[in-house]
Amino acid sequence: MVSLFSPTSLGTLELKNRIVMAPMTRSRSTENGAVTDLMAGYYGQRASAGLIVSEGIAPSENGKGYCRTPVLDSPERADGWRPVTSAVHQRGGLIVAQAMHCGRIAHRDNKAPDAETVAPSAIRAAGEMYTDSNGLQPFDQPRELTEDEVSGVVAEYRRFAALAIEAGFDGVELHGTSGYLPAQFLCTGSNRRSDRYGGSLEGRIRFPVEVLESMVDEVGAGRVGLRICPGNPFNDLVDDRPEDVDETFRAFLAAIRPLGLAWLHVIRRHEGDPGVVMDNLALARELHDGALIANDSFDAAEADASIDAGGCDAVSFGRHFLATPDLVARIGDGRSPEGHP
Ligand SMILES: Cc1cc2nc3c(=O)[nH]c(=O)nc-3n(C[C@H](O)[C@H](O)[C@H](O)COP(=O)(O)O)c2cc1C
Repeated sequence: MVSLFSPTSLGTLELKNRIVMAPMTRSRSTENGAVTDLMAGYYGQRASAGLIVSEGIAPSENGKGYCRTPVLDSPERADGWRPVTSAVHQRGGLIVAQAMHCGRIAHRDNKAPDAETVAPSAIRAAGEMYTDSNGLQPFDQPRELTEDEVSGVVAEYRRFAALAIEAGFDGVELHGTSGYLPAQFLCTGSNRRSDRYGGSLEGRIRFPVEVLESMVDEVGAGRVGLRICPGNPFNDLVDDRPEDVDETFRAFLAAIRPLGLAWLHVIRRHEGDPGVVMDNLALARELHDGALIANDSFDAAEADASIDAGGCDAVSFGRHFLATPDLVARIGDGRSPEGHP
């Protein structure tokens, strides 16, 4: 039987087990996006995972949305991450950096003074975000990126990938869901552009395709992954027609298939969830040739069964890892992930 404890590979990464730590924003950076000591301790404690996906890290000041979240946009900031990646490597683990540009899901109080909130179109998302200075605030009104500026954002992701490797990360994952910038381009409700980055299916997928091409060109496909959750309406992501979701993701995944990404990290949907519910794992298996990491509300038994049946190659755990640094040992000796035998 193939189980959570069977080694596997994701592109060039050799995982000692198939238990992946899901990316989780912790808001433990300094106010200006630098790494703190707490973070090396936190990630080091969880190095028994086959792979850790870091919290979302902004590729630029404009990409930062939430308070006290990290930014990786310079060699100095890459230096700041080295104690984190070393802490994981010293304990025999692997860690990749998640690139998370928030786009319109942001508030200016959480950003550098000269940073802007930008998006595919000047459409404000419904909802609120926490700020340290003024508590909950409505999301910013975003400014629409010009066509030239979109290429500039693609270049920010390329720089991010290079800096992540310089910082000692083993690879990079593009955050392509949860209402952030790539998802804003993909979705008909938030992308009303009429230039080459919108207007048609081909136009809407162009930005995330170019981002992945640039990251792959920079560090190699064997170290690049993508996270998706088709149909998830989180952060006011609404398509004009429900069938847009299937159409968009089929076209997007087909367009990036030749890149040969090392992994797709897929959040599944459940009956009764808001938005469009489809079998995201089956879609990913159909249209992606590399490894598949499945996520959302798994326990160890279901994860083992899914891996053994070939539904996925690895499973990521979020909340269990948050509360339980020794999750891998606990799964291994049959204790429940929550820590209550
Ligand atoms: C505190 C917290 C922060 C999160 N931050 C991120 C993030 O930065 N990037 C991301 O892709 N997902 C993020 N997520 C989603 C998780 O990666 C994961 O998809 C979710 O917790 C469901 O998995 P689980 O059922 O194993 O907890 C976050 C979840 C939590 C609980």
